[in-house]
Amino acid sequence: MRKLRYGMIGGGPGSLIGEVHRKAASYHGLSKPVCSVFSRDYEKNLSLALDYGIDEDRVYNDYEELIEKESKRSDKPDFIIIATPNAFHYEIAKKALKNMFHVICDKPVTINSDEAVELRDLAMKNNLLFGVTYAYTGYSMVHQIKKMVLNGNIGEVRYISGRYIQDWMADTENILNNKHANWRLNPKISGPTNSTGDIGTHLENLVSFTTDLKIKKLSARLDKFGDNIKLDNNVTMMVEYDNGAKGHYWISQIAIGHDNDLGIEIVGTKGSIKWQQNRANYIEFSKLNGPSQIISRNSSLIYPEIKKDFLTEGGHPEGYIEAFARTYKNFMHAILRKDYGAEISAGYYPEIDTGIQGVKFIEAAVESSNNNNKWIEI
Ligand SMILES: NC(=O)c1ccc[n+]([C@@H]2O[C@H](COP(=O)([O-])OP(=O)(O)OC[C@H]3O[C@@H](n4cnc5c(N)ncnc54)[C@H](O)[C@@H]3O)[C@@H](O)[C@H]2O)c1
Repeated sequence: MRKLRYGMIGGGPGSLIGEVHRKAASYHGLSKPVCSVFSRDYEKNLSLALDYGIDEDRVYNDYEELIEKESKRSDKPDFIIIATPNAFHYEIAKKALKNMFHVICDKPVTINSDEAVELRDLAMKNNLLFGVTYAYTGYSMVHQIKKMVLNGNIGEVRYISGRYIQDWMADTENILNNKHANWRLNPKISGPTNSTGDIGTHLENLVSFTTDLKIKKLSARLDKFGDNIKLDNNVTMMVEYDNGAKGHYWISQIAIGHDNDLGIEIVGTKGSIKWQQNRANYIEFSKLNGPSQIISRNSSLIYPEIKKDFLTEGGHPEGYIEAFARTYKNFMHAILRKDYGAEISAGYYPEIDTGIQGVKFIEAAVESSNNNNKWIEI
């Protein structure tokens, strides 16, 4: 089977996530980039494209030109990666879907849910796949947690505490000089939120994936600490899930002392599970009236089907790139099955419905915060 071909829009030199997408897409040797608008700056786009061996005549000025010209080629890309700031996702994805490309797009998938639903309908109409890179669900141990929860190891879920806290926006006096933060704090490019959409949606997705629970309603306070800060940089939220379980989330980008501190604690009637990204290869599992255990990725308690999918041997750590790569592998396997009849089972990757759920979570949080933290049904 030949390598899949992809075109990439966004993720230029110095971007936060571009290189992660490219490493993840190539990790399993399943794909290679063939055309690009990595940046709106043509020279930057060209220099990176040449590093990747992309032919100069497939380096374009903008996404419209890329999609229009590439859709006419016999060796056109199998899929398009979108890694631009949030507000551009919708137009780019719409054009790619209209021109019959599968799409994998970063989160939040759009800046309002009507746009996200429109993309889902278009993908369905044209029989195309649409992945969303909520890549934290790519960690082996996150899959292990899901299986443990669904197998009843902790009983009925009662309470979930979640946090995604960082400190890179804590210097609020100077933060607007940081190019990665500047657009995130600009409602025209980021959408209605900063932290809620940027990292809160990852937390919402992680909880929903590991527990199969959906948020029924939430009450949120979106704070904007600092002068001239137009969007939230710290969020406090109470949530209620569809099984009646309760929870709370802390989402922050001003939490000094924290890097990418994503963590969950799931408390059930018979036990609890704790996991944090900074110790991604370990789960803490406690039983009612029993001892607490640290389950490592190398442990005999890891389910065989999860072990089978390890990207490094269990005694060595797997990290962020591997989690992202697993998400990409499953998306690309789904393309291989669909378009080429390959006899492979495509594992889990977040699809457009998951993206819609994330955008609805953002909208509910904004509505609640604007209405004295009123409970809002999703
Ligand atoms: N999944 C994750 O874990 C994760 C992590 C970080 C960022 N993100 C998401 O990825 C996206 C990009 O974030 P970032 O931090 O890398 O941004 P960034 O500002 O670091 O980089 C954005 C890149 O996109 C390019 N760009 C902007 N508009 C463009 C356009 N119209 N056409 C082509 N290129 C364009 C810029 O030149 C730049 O190279 C955002 O949606 C963000 O929410 C996801």
